[in-house]
Amino acid sequence: MKLDPIYLLVTHPTGQYDVLVGAGLLPNLADLAQIRGPIALITDSNVGPLHADRLGGVACTVTIPAGEQHKTLATVQTVYDQLLVAGIDRQATIVALGGGVVGDVAGFVAATYMRGVAFVQCPTSLLAMVDASVGGKTGVDMPQGKNLVGAFKQPTAVLADVSTLQTLPPEEFAAGMAEVVKHGLISNPELFGRLETGDWRLTHQSPISSLQSLVATAIKVKRDVVQEDPFEQGRRATLNLGHTFGHAIEQVSGYRVRHGEGVAMGLVAAANLSARLEHCDPAMQGRIENALQAQGLPTRIPAEFEANAIYQAMFSDKKKAAGKLRFILLRDVGDVFVTAAATENEVLASVTAVQFT
Ligand code: GLY
Repeated sequence: MKLDPIYLLVTHPTGQYDVLVGAGLLPNLADLAQIRGPIALITDSNVGPLHADRLGGVACTVTIPAGEQHKTLATVQTVYDQLLVAGIDRQATIVALGGGVVGDVAGFVAATYMRGVAFVQCPTSLLAMVDASVGGKTGVDMPQGKNLVGAFKQPTAVLADVSTLQTLPPEEFAAGMAEVVKHGLISNPELFGRLETGDWRLTHQSPISSLQSLVATAIKVKRDVVQEDPFEQGRRATLNLGHTFGHAIEQVSGYRVRHGEGVAMGLVAAANLSARLEHCDPAMQGRIENALQAQGLPTRIPAEFEANAIYQAMFSDKKKAAGKLRFILLRDVGDVFVTAAATENEVLASVTAVQFT
């Protein structure tokens, strides 16, 4: 099915690019993304078999193993090797086809291979469409923590073909909805309201036009934030709402908890901490839980994850400043801020408060 794209222009310090949100875009990749030279496609073992053959004119395809555990420098090295064997040079454009891991790895390769080649993102997961593919962050994980090595590499275009969402497992779609809820909380009360009331309760099987509208609405939030603060000197940090808790929960689970599920639990914990520190109405936590549960997301931290272990895991998060943990807290829907003013006891109390008993 085809759906004419919505164009969202993103400006950044060295230029601008379009994010196209539509359906049936992938077969026209080269035209829509205005790619002139050869295309080097980077995809993964889940997405490649489903969607890679929809892209025409690909000079070389590199398939990495699927999964966050492969977002490593070792994977980057294997991609460099294959690009060199295929004779890919600086005239090429690297195209990422897949979820957040593929985009992060391919973007890091594009930032560094031959000192940098052009880069286009074709996100195929909801999470990658509404968050990871926009804003130029790329990178890999280290044994010490997530996203510890990376580069800012702006794409020259992003093609969000929402027809690819139809092949997502339902729990992957739901995981992406956690970032959509987050975007509503950061700066779009109308979006949050539609999610809270159940007016916007979408699944991977929802009408393609509804998926397009949801994705475009969520991307606009991200676009506006990264345009204002491309290098995370200030406001961009608010995109990490729920992430200090969420990354730690993911890590303690040995990455059995999906990123979006960790973010969902983290949003609830952040609301609990916000109310505990008297920044927001205590009812906020319940409102966020309702919005997340309506999307089929978990909102409680499994009891087997020790509060202390979660607290310690937060210290491997690169978002801590000068050894201090930073939290994004809420005053209200659409009113969030960054603070380092939370004590260990307050954080532990909030983790415990949102755990299953
Ligand atoms: N995913 C958070 C950011 O792009 O800044």
